[in-house]
Amino acid sequence: MSSNGFAAFLSLYRRGAVKGRIKRTSGGWFDCSKRASCLENGEVSAYRAGACSVSAWRTRCSTVNSSALRLARDGEYSTLSFTGASMRALVTGGAGFIGSTLVDALVARGDEVTILDNLSTGRADYLNPDARFIQADLIHDDLDTAFVDIELVFHTAALARVPRSIEDPVGTHEANVTATLRVLKAAADAGSRRVIYSSSSSVYGDQPTLPLTEPMAPNPLNPYACQKLMGELYARNFARVFGLHTTSLRDFNVYGPRQAESGAYRLVIGIFLEQRRCGERLTIHGDGLQTRDFTHVSDVVRANLLASSAGELPPGEVINVGAGREVSIRDVAALVGGPVEHLPPRGHDERFKRADIAKARALLGWEPRVSF
Ligand SMILES: NC(=O)c1ccc[n+]([C@@H]2O[C@H](COP(=O)([O-])OP(=O)(O)OC[C@H]3O[C@@H](n4cnc5c(N)ncnc54)[C@H](O)[C@@H]3O)[C@@H](O)[C@H]2O)c1
Repeated sequence: MSSNGFAAFLSLYRRGAVKGRIKRTSGGWFDCSKRASCLENGEVSAYRAGACSVSAWRTRCSTVNSSALRLARDGEYSTLSFTGASMRALVTGGAGFIGSTLVDALVARGDEVTILDNLSTGRADYLNPDARFIQADLIHDDLDTAFVDIELVFHTAALARVPRSIEDPVGTHEANVTATLRVLKAAADAGSRRVIYSSSSSVYGDQPTLPLTEPMAPNPLNPYACQKLMGELYARNFARVFGLHTTSLRDFNVYGPRQAESGAYRLVIGIFLEQRRCGERLTIHGDGLQTRDFTHVSDVVRANLLASSAGELPPGEVINVGAGREVSIRDVAALVGGPVEHLPPRGHDERFKRADIAKARALLGWEPRVSF
């Protein structure tokens, strides 16, 4: 396993090489996502008070963009290897963090890729130009046409945040359960060979022992976790009842380039990065000794690729995809740096998380390659 995945990510982030972000050398963060309009309108001064000229901004942006591409290809994703025959694959949520990274890997593998996404939380600039894009909603729109001739389905689309599921349990149920059911039905009707479902370690909730192993009884602590579990149950059920080959990958806290760093529903690393960028205190719920098993997105993508090509997977199988190491929230805050503020603990958060990855090793030949 290569070391310091998070340190490498932070370094990319600080050099502005993570897509959409740039750092001014003399301190203070700039948001590069409005780059086009800032260049067209000369609105650089809007970005934290006139610290660089339009031409300096233009030079820096173009440098950063090419280096982001190069680093993404040569650095972060050098751990991905591509083998196997070309497949016709459909990725739901292919404009999102994990989905778009997966699409890039599938395209690089030589697959013919269709992205289906409603762009609710995904971003148009993450869409791979070599993939076909269908802008559609998995809850309401007809899916049959999109699934014609599709061999492989990667279902990553979801409204994937715990707080949102608490604010809107019904709406997120539709996005996370109804949509999953519709994807499974469309895949079964189209005769797709395999569906890989992005599940979540949140289905474990709190357990009496670590590491978290797949046979443990799920203990979802919030609506999002219930919904991801329901997706697994449907995936298993479709294997049994409809003969659809499904696999659920229980992803543990995924991080890396393209993770959300703004908006109300970022995960902890994204929250810390934005707080640091804005010069705010890093907010920790509780004592900060709670742990997560942070897993690099390139490892998650590789697990998806392996699951899609593994020969003898039992249908409906559930497999942990985690780095297999606990990192405390306090330690993440220390790595990001800056003052912290402790807030009351939240009842819907798990206390400790660490994946047992023996099954992924045995069934997929998967091993995490990037350590935190
Ligand atoms: N990020 C993590 O740490 C993590 C951990 C465990 C599991 N997961 C799972 O991985 C998957 C991807 O997560 P992510 O972090 O990349 O999220 P994301 O929000 O970046 O991507 C989700 C994508 O799904 C799309 N989408 C949502 N609802 C849709 C609908 N009704 N129709 C069509 N498209 C829709 C969004 O526009 C977005 O592009 C999710 O299923 C999530 O539950 C994520």
